[in-house]
Amino acid sequence: MTYAAMYARWQDNPEAFWMEAAEAIAWHRPPTKALTDKGDGLYEWFADGLTNTCYNAVDRHVDAGRGEQVAIIHDSPVTHTKREITFVELRNRVATLAGALRAKGVEKGDRVIIYMPMIPEALEAMLACARIGAVHSVVFGGFAANELAVRIDDAKPKAIIAASAGIEPGRIVHYKPLLDAAIDLADHKPDFCVIFQREQEVAQLVEGRDVNWHGFQYGVQPVDCVPVEGNHPAYILYTSGTTGQPKGVIRHTGGQLVALNWTMKNIYNVDPGDVFWAASDVGWVVGHSYICYGPLIHGNTTIVFEGKPVGTPDAGTFWRVMSEHKVKAFFTAPTALRAVKREDPEGALVKDYDISGLQAVYLAGERADPDTIEWAQKHLNVPVIDHWWQTETGWAIAANPLGVEELPIKPGSPAVPMPGYQVEILDDAGHPVGPDTLGAIAVKLPLPPGTLPNLWNAEARFKKSYLNTFPGYYETGDAGMKDADGYLYIMARTDDVINVAGHRLSTGGMEEVLAGHPDVAECAVIGVSDALKGQMPVGFLCLNAGCDRDHAEVVNDVVKLVREKIGPVAAFKIACVVDRLPKTRSGKILRGTMVSIADGAEWKMPATIDDPAILDEITVALKGLGYAQ
Ligand code: COA
Ligand code: AMP
Repeated sequence: MTYAAMYARWQDNPEAFWMEAAEAIAWHRPPTKALTDKGDGLYEWFADGLTNTCYNAVDRHVDAGRGEQVAIIHDSPVTHTKREITFVELRNRVATLAGALRAKGVEKGDRVIIYMPMIPEALEAMLACARIGAVHSVVFGGFAANELAVRIDDAKPKAIIAASAGIEPGRIVHYKPLLDAAIDLADHKPDFCVIFQREQEVAQLVEGRDVNWHGFQYGVQPVDCVPVEGNHPAYILYTSGTTGQPKGVIRHTGGQLVALNWTMKNIYNVDPGDVFWAASDVGWVVGHSYICYGPLIHGNTTIVFEGKPVGTPDAGTFWRVMSEHKVKAFFTAPTALRAVKREDPEGALVKDYDISGLQAVYLAGERADPDTIEWAQKHLNVPVIDHWWQTETGWAIAANPLGVEELPIKPGSPAVPMPGYQVEILDDAGHPVGPDTLGAIAVKLPLPPGTLPNLWNAEARFKKSYLNTFPGYYETGDAGMKDADGYLYIMARTDDVINVAGHRLSTGGMEEVLAGHPDVAECAVIGVSDALKGQMPVGFLCLNAGCDRDHAEVVNDVVKLVREKIGPVAAFKIACVVDRLPKTRSGKILRGTMVSIADGAEWKMPATIDDPAILDEITVALKGLGYAQ
């Protein structure tokens, strides 16, 4: 079948298309219909089916006789260890962990926060929650205690599962003190915490609250999978919005199972038994969909890689892992390849390894620049596929579906919409524009299975963020265009979200932190272009009248403050003090213009600017930081 024929088949009868895809999933009770229209722009998929995510990701492969196949490979250059877990071992481990959680009172619908690094136990914790119908919320290890506390207060977990430590090159990340501080900060208190003690660090347990991962499973009866409704939340994953309050993206069970399973063959072109590797982190959506659920549901071996593209120990790590574990499809963020390319521009290290089993490389998380795509294609000699998606969608909105047909690659474009997504480029009034014209990218409702049905405890925010601007559409928050062949080009965000090393961050959230400094009267944070990380945050501070502190000191303070409040992952290291911020006459800070100046791009004096001279001051400040060249 061609891509065009597949897309037409979906357009012709979307519900039949997804009901057919649902046949590949094991249901305790198959759904009688695909879509439920709940009105007011809200939809659910496979709502009346009964199934279990863990059963589909683990047990059914054992039942089908593939228990001895490796399910998870942990490859950890930072601890110099490697380990394999078969499907049958995974089933046994997860069933016991689930039994221990249940014995401590965790039931269907209860939330469980998971705060763990890239170790198989993180996936086991996710799967154990799924097994008993508990709703997990994984928090990325690079977030600080305050961010964890915000998520604890929003999700109100009954339990938190954490590791004692994570390992970043050159330093141990002490998870336990961060966890303790977060629980102190939060109003909501979990009933108990399960601590996985790593060899690198044994954490102090809080008596009466913390239990040891191994100890609390001792003598516990393994438990079976609990059937849940298709519209039962599988997880909540918090993502950055325009403010410091993250959005709790909900994923439903049935839609996720059907959609992710469908993508494994059609987009990633892997068959059960093949090794699939997403070099991301379980704290991000890529980790949820393509380190944990997608590959396991489809019966693939997944790799949990605890390392970095460079420095663990060198820029050949990716190629070593591929050759050692016979990786067939590889997924990473463009920034990771840029980091490798910077250290090994000629790709010399690729030649040290046999990566002949590699079939394709997939990139997402930020715009893939043509240089990086071409470099990877040249040195890896496989198709390099850019695909575009978001935490909200859980899987690709646009891609080149290699399992169906390899479409021509146009560097700079994540190719074409996948079935389920009718993508339109809209003008400010919400009218579709013609080819090669920039506009807001929107998707006609309903969104396909596996995408967010709502935000956790925040339906009004869900509607405001995604549904209200363009009635009948989901607003992606991205701007871009379509060419005459229907290829999409994703150019920029339309909100205050930036992408730093493939990590989604909110400049609004950073501004809230800066504004909290006692000497700061006003501030702005913008995302400027960065050759390695795609974007980097840069802060502008206006100090209180009469503040005579050394500017460098205040800058130091706020850099520390962002690290403390948001976390190292914010990568907030650059800021300067200015007298005034450029604004429109109605008082809106002209962040977009500041970005253009910083990037040395062409820009026009905004007609509504209050005082054009301020832009000259900003230009001087940016030049002082090495930008606006
Ligand atoms: N736990 C704790 N800290 C973390 C962390 C984690 N899981 N992940 C990153 N950090 C820290 C880093 O140690 C760094 O700290 P530092 O300021 O003390 O150096 C900081 O957060 C910023 O990290 P990052 O922006 O990732 O920069 P880096 O210089 O450490 O690495 C790359 C640069 C390009 C190698 C790295 O960003 C990378 O591998 N990116 C791939 C991104 C990716 O997989 N994204 C997922 C979406 S697909
Ligand atoms: P996240 O929710 O962290 O996956 O980030 C989603 C955002 O990252 C999108 O809305 C885009 O702005 C950006 N993004 C993700 N993939 C791509 C891509 N392939 N090309 C351009 N931008 C992308």
